[in-house]
This record gives sequence, C-alpha cells and structure tokens, in this order.
Amino acid sequence: MLPAALPPRMRLCEMGPRDGLQNIPDTVPLAAKLGLIERLQQAGLEYIEVAAFVSPRAVPQMADGEAVCAGLTRRPGVTYAALAPNVKGLDRALAAGIGEVGLFTAASETFSQHNTRCSIEESLARAAAIAQPAREAGVRLRGYVSCVLGCPYEGTTDPGRVAELAAALFDLGCYEVSLGDTIGVGTPGKARAMVRRVRESAPRQSLALHFHDTYGQALANLLACLDQGIGSVDASVAGLGGCPYAPGASGNVASEDVVYMLHGLGIETGVDLDALCRAGAYISEQLGRPSASRAGRALTARAASC
Ligand code: HMG
Ligand code: MG
Repeated sequence: MLPAALPPRMRLCEMGPRDGLQNIPDTVPLAAKLGLIERLQQAGLEYIEVAAFVSPRAVPQMADGEAVCAGLTRRPGVTYAALAPNVKGLDRALAAGIGEVGLFTAASETFSQHNTRCSIEESLARAAAIAQPAREAGVRLRGYVSCVLGCPYEGTTDPGRVAELAAALFDLGCYEVSLGDTIGVGTPGKARAMVRRVRESAPRQSLALHFHDTYGQALANLLACLDQGIGSVDASVAGLGGCPYAPGASGNVASEDVVYMLHGLGIETGVDLDALCRAGAYISEQLGRPSASRAGRALTARAASC
C-alpha cells in the first residue's frame, strides 16, 4: 500500500561525483568528472556533491577536489557541495568556493574507526570544530549519519542511537541530516521504523534518505519513508558508488531509478529524466562499466532504437 500523504515535490541530491566515484578502483580523469557534473546540471540537478576534502591517503579518488571545483562551469541556483571530515577539510572546501559542507559521523564505533580513524564522539568534536567557522564563512551545513540500518562490522543498528546522532548534528547547525544505509541492508519496515524514531527526536527538521542498494531494497525503502517529512533523497547517477570502508557495499540507489519512480508517483523533481540518463550513459562509458540503473539502461536502449 502507498503511504497516505506523499509530498508533491522532492529534492534530489546527486551523489555521483563524490559517493559514486570515491570507490572506483582506477583513477577517474578530471575531464570525466567535469563532464559528468556538467551533464548533471544540464539535467536540472540543483544539488551536486562534487568532492570530498578528505585525506588523499584515505581516499585517493577524491584527491583532485580543488581541480574539480576550479574546473566547474558554475550555474546560478546549483549548490556544489563537498564532504569535510576536519578543519583542514573545511579550509580546503572554503578555498575551493564550496557552498555547502557535509559533516559526517556514524552510528557504529567500529565503522567510525575504519572510516575516520576516530570514535563517534571524536567525529562529533571534529564536526563541532568545523561548524562555527563554516557558518561564519556563510557556508551551509548538512549532516550525514552512516550505518543507520546496519554496520559491516557490528551488525544491526539501534534506531535510538541514530536519533541521538541526528539530533547532535542538528544542534551543530545542520539544516538537514541525511540518514545513510551505507551497506544497503535495510528493508522497508525497518527503514520506516528507523526514520520514525529519528522523527520523534527531530519533529520539524528536514531529513534526507541516503540508501545504498546492495540488496536491491533501496527504492522500496525510500517509498516506505517518503511520507515522514523527508526533504531530500540522495542518489547516484548510474547507481555508482560505495564507501571504501564498507566492504561489499554497492552504490547509492540510482538517480534515474529514483526519478522514474517519483515522477510515476506524481512527485516533481525538476529533473529531466532523459538528460539524466544521458549523464548516466556518459559516465558508464567513461568508466567502461555497465550502468547499474535499470531505468537508465531501459530508457537509453529505447532512445537508441528510436
Ligand atoms: P588521520 O590519518 O587520522 O588524520 O585520518 P591526521 O589528522 O592524523 O592526518 C594524517 C595526514 O592526513 C596528515 O598529512 C594530514 O595533513 C592529512 P601528513 O602530515 O601525514 O602528510 N590530512 C588531510 N589532508 C587533506 N585533507 C584533509 C586531511 N585531514 C588530514 N581533510 C581522516 C583522519 C578523517 C582525515 C581520514 O580518515 C579521512 O579522510 N577519512 C575520510 C574517509 C572517507 O572519505 N570516507 C568516505 C566518505 S563517508 C561515506 O561515504 C558515507 C556517506 O556516503 C553516507 C553513507 O553512505 O552512509 C557520507
Ligand atoms: Mg554513501
């Protein structure tokens, strides 16, 4: 059964150039990254995570964040966002002209240690050290909680812990917190229960859903949660991605599949699905791998046969 009150419009936050490319084994050429971002903005995406100013030793694929930002053809109305794990990351983001910074923590101690070499508490302290200078510089803050439905090292996650961490990120000034099913283990009932628990502690704040699609549940999970005051859906074109510190996890739910579903439900996104499919086909060709988007593959094949 469909949720009773679906929103009329949903913001799509495009993760492809960051979450999508951070786990690709080979170095992705700068020109391919810029070509992807340009096609995404041509498709009407107004929020694109273009870089992660993290340690290049931790994630070599994101080492060229400055060059990506310098090479963008910036369009009015588009937010170019990036992750920052610490003050050094924020300084790099500010110097690169980033408009919005993503602060991240995790609902699992072991994942936090693997991903950011610190405890959850320390990750929040690092986020706190970023928050004030970021706000003073006029940069908006978005928060991420990883492992909201399960952890590759610790198993099931307590929704109450997710709610505490989301509340901590809102307290730091994040206007939205994105709930990450990093390893895509969630199923619709559990996803909905987790979001409802977070909603109890954050009744009015904007939540985003960031579901990886490892077990093919991401669209179903999104649909189960869309009526819970969701401000944004995070997705990656061509279903690219995964976290280098979440072994075996596949990419975010594919942006093309999300847009196809939302438009089918009568929910506006402002995204041109055909143009988005062209962006997905472009990056798949650049990477020499098939798109993981079912809608993207179907619509690309249909366009080719016309
Ligand atoms: P560390 O090694 O403990 O850091 O890493 P450190 O402070 O001890 O510094 C070590 C070296 O790294 C130093 O260089 C620093 O300058 C350098 P050295 O003096 O040895 O030459 N360094 C940096 N360089 C550039 N930019 C920086 C930076 N910071 C330190 N910002 C650290 C700790 C957090 C930095 C590291 O573990 C890290 O960068 N982790 C990020 C890992 C990552 O990017 N994971 C993927 C993104 S999160 C994700 O995908 C989940 C999400 O999609 C949601 C979901 O799906 O759940 C958001
Ligand atoms: Mg992710």
